[in-house]
Amino acid sequence: MNLQTIATKPFSDQKPGTSGLRKSVPDFQKENYLENFIQAIFDSLEDKAGKTLVLGGDGRYYNRTAIQVILKMAAANEIGKVLVGCGGILSTPAASCIIRESDALGGIILSASHNPGGPEGDFGVKFNTSNGGPAPEKVTKAIFERSKAIDEYKILEAADINLDRVGSFKLGTMAVEVIDSVESYGTLMRSLFDFTAIRNLLTSGKFRMCMDSLHAVTGPYARVIFEGQLGAPAGTVQNGEPLEDFGGGHPDPNLVYAHDLVEIMFGDHAPDFGAASDGDGDRNMILGQRFFVTPSDSLAVLTANAKLVPGYKDGLAGVARSMPTSAAVDRVADDLGIDCYETPTGWKFFGNLLDAGKATLCGEESFGTGSNHVREKDGLWAVLFWLNILAVRQESVEDIVRDHWKAYGRNFYSRHDYEEVASAGANQLMDSLRAKLGDLPGQKLGQYEVKYADDFSYTDPVDGSVSEQQGIRIGFTDGSRMVFRLSGTGTKGATLRVYLESYEPDSSKHDEDTQEALSSLITLAEEVAQIREFTGRDEPTVIT
Ligand code: G1P
Ligand code: ZN
Repeated sequence: MNLQTIATKPFSDQKPGTSGLRKSVPDFQKENYLENFIQAIFDSLEDKAGKTLVLGGDGRYYNRTAIQVILKMAAANEIGKVLVGCGGILSTPAASCIIRESDALGGIILSASHNPGGPEGDFGVKFNTSNGGPAPEKVTKAIFERSKAIDEYKILEAADINLDRVGSFKLGTMAVEVIDSVESYGTLMRSLFDFTAIRNLLTSGKFRMCMDSLHAVTGPYARVIFEGQLGAPAGTVQNGEPLEDFGGGHPDPNLVYAHDLVEIMFGDHAPDFGAASDGDGDRNMILGQRFFVTPSDSLAVLTANAKLVPGYKDGLAGVARSMPTSAAVDRVADDLGIDCYETPTGWKFFGNLLDAGKATLCGEESFGTGSNHVREKDGLWAVLFWLNILAVRQESVEDIVRDHWKAYGRNFYSRHDYEEVASAGANQLMDSLRAKLGDLPGQKLGQYEVKYADDFSYTDPVDGSVSEQQGIRIGFTDGSRMVFRLSGTGTKGATLRVYLESYEPDSSKHDEDTQEALSSLITLAEEVAQIREFTGRDEPTVIT
């Protein structure tokens, strides 16, 4: 086996976004593109010799090729051992769990999350640090700086490793353990939830659930856990075979893309509970019979009911939500007398709060919920949390959420995405909004009066680091607000996200349709941001 040092030239576009480096597959296939970025990661790691690295991905196109390259580069960069998921498969939360358990120096997760896959689809590389969470900004910045200067990479010339069965191998002096993708994660889930109660519910004959894995990574996990350990009938998990192109679908668990599940859950004889997860298994969508639970409400309901779940029965240290997520959970935290943190978008901002024991549960409006059990959001964890609550309360999903609104009031909430708009126009829109911020407070806009208007800036309460320009917020005196930000995960043009929220304490008004309840705010958002003028769009591409 030959250690090779290959000369290369830097690429200027390897800046990690909200969640790792995400590009199209053809971009990643450019000569040395993947290798440069991986070497930049290794170069920015101190003290890596002899250490353990975790490696796996969501099974999308290019996963296997990239894993073989990374294994050989790890061997050439003096890594001691790599734990790699069988078949190259590790969900993002499972990778986080294994990094923490194995005292690894970190992990490389290959995924573009919910973006479509296939030869023309997207691919991505995320680096997680030893706490199991996404690399914080200072690490991603160091990787980016290194990527701009890189002039060589190291790789071992060796045969490919057989990833298709569990086993131990050697690459030069480096050990490669091909591990079961599900086992450690399943054990962690059993330690948090009451599997006996959930099993009783799922085998009672009175309760049916449907889990849609959207042909992405959670299929094998969901089959083992729901149909195996929890006794749900075969077929409970649909689209459970991970496919390189996700069966041509868009592996994003929302009402638009998880259409098979939505049809079932809103059709005749709908099951009692429906759930879906995304490409890499960190997102979740929760549905009841003909009922959609917004992710913001889901976080609030989990927080309010946490004491019913063994892993959280002793109480929560605090909760955290991303800034654009609705304030539903704030009201629960207030009631429980615990802290509620508001962070910028992206799971990496929760890491310090979880590590410092300041927050136990976290969530984002973008179908992400999680806790201190790992350092990533976790789709199947959220599904199990809901199942545990349902098993204890023996009420329907809809009744639980309606009860919640009665107790805390309802935060009507919606996100409008304008996808693939021209970057120049999107940037102008944000610049022009930013220029208006100073004048807005105190102004009357239609029926609303502006209470505050700013560009969200976050000071991490643990390490004091400051993250600026994290989204423009305009809040009104009646408690409603709108938020504007540009996506940091898209790969084509720009995506404008508009987040809308209003608060309704009166339970006689909780039945209103969300888009109707928010309609005047929606019109106002279009006017204030001049969305038509800057993007040329009359309406959003996706509404969630
Ligand atoms: C999106 C979501 C964000 C999430 C991220 C990764 O990022 O909005 O909440 O953490 O995907 O799943 P965005 O494209 O908005 O930057
Ligand atoms: Zn994801």
